[in-house]
Amino acid sequence: MTNKLDSIQISNICCIGAGYVGGPTMAVIADKCKDLRVTVVDMNKKRINSWNDENLDQIPVFEPGLKEIVGRARNKNLFFTDNMEDSIKNADIIFISVNTPIKQSGLGAGFASDMKWVEKCARQIGEMAIGHTIVVEKSTLPVRTAKIIKEILSSTSSNKFNSKPKTFSILSNPEFLAEGTAINDLINPDRVLIGGEDENAIEVLSNIYRNWVPNQKILTTNLWSSELSKLVSNAFLAQRVSSINSISALCEATGANVKEVSNAVGLDNRIGNKFLNSGPGFGGSCFKKDILNLVYLCRFFNLEEVADFWYQIVLINDWQQKRIYEVIVRKLFGNINGKIITILGFSFKSNTNDTRESPAIKIANYLLVEGANLRIHDPKVSYEQISIDLQEFQEYKSDESVASWQYCSRISDAVKDSDGIVLATEWEEYTKLDWEKISRLMKNPGWVFDTRQILNGKEIKNNGLNYWGLGEGDEKKEK
Ligand code: UDX
Ligand code: ADP
Repeated sequence: MTNKLDSIQISNICCIGAGYVGGPTMAVIADKCKDLRVTVVDMNKKRINSWNDENLDQIPVFEPGLKEIVGRARNKNLFFTDNMEDSIKNADIIFISVNTPIKQSGLGAGFASDMKWVEKCARQIGEMAIGHTIVVEKSTLPVRTAKIIKEILSSTSSNKFNSKPKTFSILSNPEFLAEGTAINDLINPDRVLIGGEDENAIEVLSNIYRNWVPNQKILTTNLWSSELSKLVSNAFLAQRVSSINSISALCEATGANVKEVSNAVGLDNRIGNKFLNSGPGFGGSCFKKDILNLVYLCRFFNLEEVADFWYQIVLINDWQQKRIYEVIVRKLFGNINGKIITILGFSFKSNTNDTRESPAIKIANYLLVEGANLRIHDPKVSYEQISIDLQEFQEYKSDESVASWQYCSRISDAVKDSDGIVLATEWEEYTKLDWEKISRLMKNPGWVFDTRQILNGKEIKNNGLNYWGLGEGDEKKEK
């Protein structure tokens, strides 16, 4: 039988997982490689139906520029389906882009990634693939996942009950896109990293990217370096956020201003000015998970000191959210029981509807436990998603608790009679609020807590409100 890759001519690619990574990545590949047929397959039929929704505003991932690309490519060379068998059977290359959350129980709970979806995926590929197939790890995965995938695939391909011979090449091709800027990150990547041993397969995958990425940006390494580089990139980025957040607390204590400090520090070329915005802590599906994976890996190899070093980044992140909640309670006279508090922004950062690990969830939970009545607004996050995210509170809410939360689609409803506004996500529309109007709607004395430093504190104060900006120390303060 002929090897599908003999001529390095491939025509079908498939991606398992139609999420925040798989959806946008495949949309861009389809848009840039018109001669390829790109199929995105997911076991979640509802999600697939949304990707196929005629109304492009209903596709399940909000990402600037995405709906335009999906509109151009869908049903031409980009297809969304829940038919696993056909998608896998026809594919020359299969990207695995499924979720790998932190394990909730069992060995490695709280640190290691739950590999059940990846394992299931590998088994499905092993069962359904035909001929030679390149399998590409796209999801962020613990180091040495390729080994697991390889073992599962080789056990299925050598199965004596299989009538048709099948072979696989495994590559690691981590995705570095950030949500909110995914399309631009995919079109203009800093680098494309491909790890693997099979040079033929590396060449095939590189050729796809060469359709729009300059060759010098395509980096090849061994499998383990590629997998580890992804974890380390995210750990370094998260480390910068925790570093500046730790300094925000010191600024508040000393009378310095963290914006001025980060600007001064970032102007040093060696440090650079990116990723130095202090805020309520990092969220998103990757940073925490990847650091915890790194910590787990270090502990596994008895590198306790290295593990402790990286773990501290997660601890500072958690502490930042707790510290913000404590400031809110203290400023509202130590009592928020029954008070109305408005949360502006629920996604983990602006320009995405993703709430995974969003700092707003933690802060909301702390406030609810203390008895607050929350009014939550976000331009893109739905009521249903917030209900899922605050499920824990619903379950543990005691009968005596007066705490409650309400979703508000209009900002004016969210701030009405509010004792305090907590700006949790830096959506641009929050920088254009009419503070005179808001001040009239709020209770007196009203507080505004700006955890992203995007609001004009002076204007807010001029409208009779109190203002607290994260990392803004009072320079006149005497120790
Ligand atoms: C991250 C990585 O950037 C990306 O390369 C990887 O593929 C996935 O993880 P993402 O989580 O989508 O992407 O968003 P990112 O822009 O990195 O922000 C992560 C978190 O850090 C957000 O909660 C954001 O608000 C926070 N952050 C970021 C800060 O608090 N300050 C900053 O200066 C930058
Ligand atoms: P990410 O941010 O990594 O893209 P998401 O959770 O947004 O993660 O998306 C992962 C998707 O993978 C989900 O839609 C889920 O239904 C899908 N998925 C997980 N395991 C499988 C599987 N074995 N077969 C098909 N789809 C899967």
